[in-house]
Amino acid sequence: MRATVTALTSSLRLMWRACRSLLLAVVTLDVLSSVAQAITLVAAGWVLGRLAESPSFGEVLPGVLGASAGIAINLAATAIRNDLSELASDRTRAETSAAVLRAAGRMPYRAFDDPTFYDGLRRAHEGGSQHVWRVVSSSFGLLRSTIELATTMAVLLVVVPLVIPVALTAYLPLAVVSARNNRMLHRLSWGLTADDRRLAYLDQIFADRAMAKEIRTLGLQTPLGRRHQEIWSRRMDAVYGLARTRATRSVAAQLLSACVVGAALGIVVALTTSGTLSLAAASVGVLGVRQLANATGRAGRESAALHRSALFLDDYEKFIANAAAIEVDAAHAIPEVSSITFDSVSFRYPGSDRDALRNISLTIERGQVTAVVGGNGAGKSTLIGLLCGLYRPAQGAILWDGHDTAAWPETSIQRSSSVLFQDFGRLEFTIADSIAPAGTVDRATLERAASRAGVDDHINTLEDGFDHQLGRQFDGAELSGGQWQRLALARSLAAEAALLVLDEPGAAMDVEGERRLVELARQEARRRPVVFVSHRFGSVREADTIVVLEEGTIIEVGDHDTLMSLDGRYAKLFQLQASAFQDKPDQASRA
Ligand SMILES: Nc1ncnc2c1ncn2[C@@H]1O[C@H](COP(=O)(O)OP(=O)(O)OP(=O)(O)O)[C@@H](O)[C@H]1O
Ligand SMILES: [Mg+2]
Repeated sequence: MRATVTALTSSLRLMWRACRSLLLAVVTLDVLSSVAQAITLVAAGWVLGRLAESPSFGEVLPGVLGASAGIAINLAATAIRNDLSELASDRTRAETSAAVLRAAGRMPYRAFDDPTFYDGLRRAHEGGSQHVWRVVSSSFGLLRSTIELATTMAVLLVVVPLVIPVALTAYLPLAVVSARNNRMLHRLSWGLTADDRRLAYLDQIFADRAMAKEIRTLGLQTPLGRRHQEIWSRRMDAVYGLARTRATRSVAAQLLSACVVGAALGIVVALTTSGTLSLAAASVGVLGVRQLANATGRAGRESAALHRSALFLDDYEKFIANAAAIEVDAAHAIPEVSSITFDSVSFRYPGSDRDALRNISLTIERGQVTAVVGGNGAGKSTLIGLLCGLYRPAQGAILWDGHDTAAWPETSIQRSSSVLFQDFGRLEFTIADSIAPAGTVDRATLERAASRAGVDDHINTLEDGFDHQLGRQFDGAELSGGQWQRLALARSLAAEAALLVLDEPGAAMDVEGERRLVELARQEARRRPVVFVSHRFGSVREADTIVVLEEGTIIEVGDHDTLMSLDGRYAKLFQLQASAFQDKPDQASRA
């Protein structure tokens, strides 16, 4: 009950904020249609009363007109009300979707490693988009049927008060069953959320341009379609199972209710046959019991719908409240840093049974370019994740200019880092918005970032230059893989934060682009620490410090010459790559 009241107050508050005029209009039209219905009843009653006196048509005409006007007003008010309520529902959906997006944006990045976060996000979307307006409209419906109930009770109170408590209990079995059914439905929805997400993921794969290529070349249409079908039928089996249980229970409850209504009618009949009730009072009693049973049924259905929506809305409320409880201090970007130190840092991903990074001690300084190398899965991107505040160390500390960052909000470190991620995003906005999505960067900075990332030449070939739309799905330009990476690099450069981190920035770039990256890193290092990850030793050798990672630990640190003279892992990897470019003796002699 308390949860339902909370749901109603928060829904009303939300609607008041989002669309108060629509809400007021719907309430007004509801009242108007009730008044019009009453006018119709009164006018029709009057006409019927007069007809007994055999009047002329002109004499009953006002009543006919009154009844017709009532019907017309009721129909018009209901039609407009239904349209407006759709608008109110859409408006509410816009508000809750935005709130869910904001809440998801506040969640720490580590939440994205947790499947329950995705479940919560999906349930919040559904709860917010479908149930706010339902809570409000069910409450209106409940209010209407309660008024109807009260009016009928007032009539019966005069005639046969005894049947009121009996008739009122008619809905009791249904109320108990509806509450249990609602809870089962809500539990099932949570149980199905992971499958719903799998279905949404398959939908996304089929609509994804990059995957469309693989789907065609690998002939995945049928197998993926089958997978889709399997999940759907698994889902439907569970839904049918619940529907069967719900229907069985509801039928049993309905039968019980019918027995109770029958008992109330029996009371009226018994009182009439015993002479306690006159025939006229008995007919009012029978009609009253029927109307009371109908009104309790309606009130019951509305309250069940309200209870159901309140359960679903609670998922939305909880998600928003969880996010709101997280302190976000985005304003505190650190303007500059000269050294960042990892002091015996270890880190393990949630759900993993081994450390992704172990006992990392390292200092990154302004004025220097630091390169991180190592095989796939060595922990390079994880190190970057910790460096830019996406993750916190499980052990050890990360110090910015000697200050332990453990006490800082992680958003501070995040906002103080310009990062080109290995899995960078492809933002299909205009070029300008793709480089500076926040829209806070002036055109000169934008152009400089594009030029330094080496994507300016291509931008200049596009008809609308920086205002050119990207992405074929929006009738925009499509970029090559390397051009997309350069654009993402421009985005990180335009951010101009205290630290610059580039995770495999040259992975998709041509030789010239890779060369420019080395120069860029050098220039940037003059004003901020620069870290980059690369598998290309031609670039790595230029770095001031090279960190070699293996299975989450640092095995070697130093500049190129030092590491070569160590003749360890770095030297082996370097020689391996270099040998691929050198002519083998027999090939040389053949040439
Ligand atoms: N979000 C995650 N949750 C759990 N484990 C993860 C996660 N991300 C990475 N890992 C695991 O952590 C280890 C280090 O991954 P990381 O991405 O840091 O490797 P990397 O050195 O960047 O490799 P690559 O050269 O392929 O980019 C790997 O074993 C990987 O499977
Ligand atoms: Mg990586």
